[in-house]
Amino acid sequence: MSSSHPPTPRSNPSLMPSLSLIIVGVVVIIAGALGLTLLVPQILPPQASTQAQQVDQLFTFLLFFGGVIFILVEGLILVSVIRFRARPGDLSDGPPIHGNTMLELVWTAVPAVLVAVLAILSYVVWVNTRAVVPNEMTVGATAARFAWTFNYEVSQDTLPTTLNFSDLKPEVQTDLTDEDGVVHFSNPKLYTWVDQPIVMEMQSQDVNHAFWVPAMRVKQDVLPGRTTEIRFTPTEAGNYRIVCAELCGSGHGAMAGEVGRDGELLGAWLIVYATEEEYLANFFDDAATAVLVPPDDPALLGRQILASGAYPCATCHTLDDQGWTGNIGPNLNGIGDRAAERAQTTGDADGAAYIEHSLRHPGDFLVPGFGNLMPQFNPDQGQPNYMPQNDLEAIVAYLLTQTANPSN
Ligand code: CUA
Repeated sequence: MSSSHPPTPRSNPSLMPSLSLIIVGVVVIIAGALGLTLLVPQILPPQASTQAQQVDQLFTFLLFFGGVIFILVEGLILVSVIRFRARPGDLSDGPPIHGNTMLELVWTAVPAVLVAVLAILSYVVWVNTRAVVPNEMTVGATAARFAWTFNYEVSQDTLPTTLNFSDLKPEVQTDLTDEDGVVHFSNPKLYTWVDQPIVMEMQSQDVNHAFWVPAMRVKQDVLPGRTTEIRFTPTEAGNYRIVCAELCGSGHGAMAGEVGRDGELLGAWLIVYATEEEYLANFFDDAATAVLVPPDDPALLGRQILASGAYPCATCHTLDDQGWTGNIGPNLNGIGDRAAERAQTTGDADGAAYIEHSLRHPGDFLVPGFGNLMPQFNPDQGQPNYMPQNDLEAIVAYLLTQTANPSN
C-alpha cells in the first residue's frame, strides 16, 4: 500500500508590501514619469508660437500622467510575475477570488476623475489657443490641388515707402480708392514676423485639405464651400514647414515645404522674420510693388504673375524659367513650340488659343500619359479657381515665349 501525499500547499507570499517597498515604488514611478517628460523637447518639433507653448504644457502633463499609470501597471505586472510565480513542484491552484467591490469601485472612480480632469484641461487649452487677440493680421490661404497660395493686401496706408500713390497707373489707383481700397496679391509662402498675431482665413478650390504648421502646433481642415480659421502668434524667427494634413490626391505629399538640393526652400513654408521692418524689406515691399507697378509687356507680366505663385502651377509642372520641377502634369519647357502643333489636333485657331483652351477647359484635351487633374481656371469672380482674363492673356503671352531655344 502506497501512501499518497496531498500536494504541499503553496506558502503564499504576503499580498501587502512593506511600507519601505511602497515608498520605493512611488519614488520609482514619479521619477520615471518625470524622466519621460524630459524627452518632450526631443520628440516634438521646435516650439515657435504662443499656441505651441500651451499645447506642449498640456502634452507634458498628459505624458507625466500617462507615464505614472504606465509604470504603475507594468511595474505591478512585473512584480506579480516574479513574486507570485509557481515554485518548482507546486501544482496547486491559486486561492479562489470572488471579486472585491471596493477595489472595483476605486479602479473605476480614479480613472473617471482623471479623464474628467484631462478633458477640462484640454478644453481650456483648445479655447485659449483659438482666442481672438488684439492687433491680428489677417492672411488668406487658398488650397488647391496641389499647392497653397497665401493672399495679402496692400492699401493706400500700406504702400511701400518707395512708391507714390500719384505715380501709380490710373487702374491701380482706382483699385486703391474704391470701397475696399485694397489690391490683393499672392505668394506661395506665408510671411510674418515675431509677435505678430495671425489669423488665417482659409478656403479650398476643390477638395478637403488641412493646413498644418507643426512648429506652431496648429492644424485646421480647409473645406470647399466654407471659410475656416486658425490663429497663431509666432515667438521665434525662422523657417517652418507648412504641411497638408488631409489626403487630397496624388500630389498630396507635394503640398508641403521641402528643402531643395541646394538648400533652397521649395513649396509651402512659413517664414517668420524677427521684426516688421525685416518683413517689409524682405518680402512685402517687393511683392506689393510688383502688383502696384506691373510691367507693360504682357509676357513679362505673365512671367511675374506665375512667379508670384498666384496660381498653383509650380507643384505639378516643370518649367526651367520659373524653377518649377513638378512632374504630376506635362513639362512646360518648350511649350511655345508645341502649342501651335497641338492647336491642329484640338481644333484651336493657333498656339495662343490652345493654351487659353488648356487653362479654361483643361479636361478637353489631355497630353498622353497624364490624368485629368488640372484645375479649371474660370473667368468669373466667385467661381473656384478664378483667373481674370487679363491674367490669362499675360500668362498665355509668357508661355508662348517658352520655346526650346528662348533666345530666338
Ligand atoms: Cu492638400 Cu493633401
